[in-house]
Amino acid sequence: MSELQTNAFWMPFTPNRAFKSAPRIVERAEGIYLTEKGGRQIIDATAGLWCSNAGHGRTEIADAIYKQAKTLDYSSIFNFGHELGFEYAERLIQHTPDGLNHVFFGNSGSEAVETALKIALQYQRARGKGTRTMFIGREKGYHGVNFGGISVGGIAPNYQSFGQPVKANHLRHTLDIKRNAFSRGLPQHGVELAEDLERLVNFHGADQIAAVIVEPFAGAGGVVLPPKGYLQRLRAICDKHDLLLIFDEVISGWGRTGSAFGAIEFGVTPDMITSAKGITNATVPLSAVFVQEEIHNTIMDAAAEGMVEFFHGYTYSAHPVACAAGMATLDIYEREGLLTRASGDIAKYWEDALHSLEDGHNVIDVRNYGLVGAIELRAPEKLSGKFGAKVSGMAWEAGVMTRGIGDALCMSPPLVIEKHEIDAIVDKLRSVLSTLS
Ligand SMILES: Cc1ncc(COP(=O)(O)O)c(C=O)c1O
Repeated sequence: MSELQTNAFWMPFTPNRAFKSAPRIVERAEGIYLTEKGGRQIIDATAGLWCSNAGHGRTEIADAIYKQAKTLDYSSIFNFGHELGFEYAERLIQHTPDGLNHVFFGNSGSEAVETALKIALQYQRARGKGTRTMFIGREKGYHGVNFGGISVGGIAPNYQSFGQPVKANHLRHTLDIKRNAFSRGLPQHGVELAEDLERLVNFHGADQIAAVIVEPFAGAGGVVLPPKGYLQRLRAICDKHDLLLIFDEVISGWGRTGSAFGAIEFGVTPDMITSAKGITNATVPLSAVFVQEEIHNTIMDAAAEGMVEFFHGYTYSAHPVACAAGMATLDIYEREGLLTRASGDIAKYWEDALHSLEDGHNVIDVRNYGLVGAIELRAPEKLSGKFGAKVSGMAWEAGVMTRGIGDALCMSPPLVIEKHEIDAIVDKLRSVLSTLS
């Protein structure tokens, strides 16, 4: 077999030179397992990139993709339609919070975010509040890589080389290990951090702000959970100042927290939700923005009869093959009860297993909710901020895929995970952690 050439592929969010000097190549995936080139099995404790929620290699989805590609592979979605797009949108809104019953399709989480920001701007203009053009995000927030997303995002390396072209400011993040270390579920302390929104409203003026965008829990920022009451408080302040609230649920959606959406789990209804990843079990790229009735209707009504109401969309919005994958994914989620599985017995097992890694020395925090969790490590001074990546590399060698973020190991296993598989993850991590000095 010829040697793999790695030069041409410029890899995303990867230290290319380091990777190419020792490539880690995955060849197959089934259930919660990945198979590396050479045959070694690795447990996928991150569901890919927080997205293969029903586990890998689901035949039903693969069959639906194949059948759709043979029946209608593609047709224009500007001024023409296909039934599947309409059927799929109707089916999706069976799972969204009440009132979020319009769906705008894109291909990626980043596109869903840009779409939601644009809808917010157009809505403000359509209702005569055109001065509201800026956004409030949050430190440690991740909203994809497009220009709007990096502006509202709060992870410095993602915007440092590119600037923040969309006007935005940021709430303080809610990670408070001093007060909340080893929380099980939502942290007790920090509801008052939502008041930071009042500070930003005072500073900029409510009449300048179109929307607030946050993830219900920050994923790529290191699994940062909302303190008890925090999201409710944020909603109340948004209402007080007439600001839209967008939940970016690209990670927290589709069963991760134990409900279809974090909005439902945490009992706070935003005005829009962005969704991607698990929406198709990551088999075919597709994203969606779920939009509240009044926002949709205001934009519709503001446009002249017969005119395009929203000058936005993608060649592949509602791509038929992606919709077919999404429908088959919903079949699985609904039939197997996966959207609520992470609220039951398995979540408690996950919580106890992760917290059994508290060792009083290397581990300075364990945090979890549903089927997501993070283990925060005490980093040696010279590796501070990048220790997670180093230990995640060791975990890979030990046979478990985790995501190293800052000094934390983050995990979000497929929702089909069984107890013995959780045991296997934790055993492997325990042996890795025991080697840290
Ligand atoms: C909350 C959130 N929003 C947006 C995105 C961007 O999604 P994509 O990588 O599909 O563009 C991500 C990706 O991890 C995410 O976690």
